[in-house]
This record gives sequence, structure tokens and C-alpha cells, in this order.
Amino acid sequence: MTRNIWDPIKPLDMRRVKHQPPKRILVANAKGGSGKTTVTINIAAYLAKHKNNVALIDHDPQGSSSQWLSVRNDKLPDIYSVAAFRRCDVNTTRSYQLNVPSDTTHIVIDTPAGLSGNVLSDHLRHCDVILIPVVPSAIDIRAATSFIKDVLLSPGFRAKPKPIAVIANRVKSNTLGYKKLGIFLASLNIPFISSLRDTQHYVRAAEFGMGIHDFSSPHEKDLSDWQSLINWLKIQFER
Ligand SMILES: Nc1ncnc2c1ncn2[C@@H]1O[C@H](COP(=O)(O)OP(=O)(O)OP(=O)(O)O)[C@@H](O)[C@H]1O
Ligand SMILES: [Mg+2]
Repeated sequence: MTRNIWDPIKPLDMRRVKHQPPKRILVANAKGGSGKTTVTINIAAYLAKHKNNVALIDHDPQGSSSQWLSVRNDKLPDIYSVAAFRRCDVNTTRSYQLNVPSDTTHIVIDTPAGLSGNVLSDHLRHCDVILIPVVPSAIDIRAATSFIKDVLLSPGFRAKPKPIAVIANRVKSNTLGYKKLGIFLASLNIPFISSLRDTQHYVRAAEFGMGIHDFSSPHEKDLSDWQSLINWLKIQFER
């Protein structure tokens, strides 16, 4: 019998009953190039594929997530775009979130490199879960350590702590850096929910406004990489 490629990931219906506020997923790491946009767009695409009403808020002046949406094929499930970076007022985080369609179930928020201080605090205040993608190299792990400390000490987080998880991104193999990342996270009691392999599939999917789950035959390893990430989100949303 042919195995269905979708078997490893059970379609996750995260639709919520009407009038419940959308779940807000903040993707952040002050380190540039850690995979924030890649994680954001793949989560948005996954949720949209599974019949959720998704809004993507892009706070990065580079506009990478917004550009990704602008090349998305009309036949793919719709994702509502908010190019929040076009406004410079740092106090508008909340108002952007209120301006998404009323039936929005999930908001995925892409943030720029260098996020710190009051702007970081504001984002942390107005989200439900925080995902931190980290490339497992010594330099990136050091930067992530510092960023995670900033998050934990930020007034916006301390006012109402929320679940944080780390995703190792562009993992090439079971390298020393990868092991160090695990030790570091264990010391902070922060879950390490997934490791995404380094593959051109992410790059190719992004070119066409797709997530890797939109490919007709996604690579099994990529599907399993995403399973734990999606499962973790699901657990947080069911709490
Ligand atoms: N798992 C992966 N495999 C291969 N390439 C990847 C992977 N993740 C990200 N990339 C590529 O690495 C580059 C940086 O990724 P991305 O833009 O997602 O990072 P970022 O944290 O959003 O960067 P910035 O801080 O500039 O916003 C991009 O070219 C992206 O396509
Ligand atoms: Mg980015």
C-alpha cells in the first residue's frame, strides 16, 4: 500500500469558535538571518492550508513576508497581509492587530533584526506565544542567549509571561553547535521544539509565495521537522 505523504502530520484544524480573539504568534530574534521570515511564512501557509483564517503582520522594513504574500498564487489559501512596517509609530502594534478581519483565527507576526527595548516589549505584550528561530552556530547561539535574556527581562513579557520556544534552523547535522544549543535551552527551561534542516526547499517555496507544505510532495523529513512545531503550537492554543 502506498503511504500517504500526509500521514505524519495530521491535518490540524485550529479553527476557533467565533468571537474568540485570534491567537498571536510572535516570531522574533534580534539576530539577523536566523529564519524569522522563513518560520513566519511557513506557519502562515500551514495554518491557511488547514482552513484557518490567517493574518500575517510584517513589522520588518525589509518587507520580506509582505513580498512573499504579494507573489502568492491566487489558488493557494488566502492570507491577510498587514505591512505594518510602513508605519513608523512603535506604539501601533496593538492597533494593527485590531485591524485584521473579524474572523481571523491566527495572526503570525514577523519582526525585524535588532528588536530590543520598548519595541520588543510592546510586541511581547501583544502576543500569545513566542517562537525564536536560532541557527545553531556559536555566534548565533551567543546572540540568541542575549536575546532570550532580553525577552525574559522585558516589561512586556514580565507583565504577562507567555510560552516561549526555540526552533533550530538551518541544521546541517548533529554538530557541536547544535548540542550546545540544547544545553543552553535546558538551562533556561525553554523547550527546543523543532529543528528545521538546511534545504533549498524553503528558498524555492518562498520564491512562489508558498510554504513547504504547499508542495505537491513535500520532503518527509521537512514534514516531520514541522510536526513537533505545529503540535507545540496546538498545545499552547488549547490551554
Ligand atoms: N531552513 C533553511 N534552509 C535553507 N535556507 C534557509 C532556511 N531558513 C532560512 N533560509 C534562508 O536564509 C536566509 C535568511 O532567512 P530569513 O530571511 O528567514 O531570516 P530572517 O531572520 O527573517 O532574516 P532578517 O533578520 O534579515 O529578517 C533566507 O535567504 C532564507 O531563504
Ligand atoms: Mg526576515
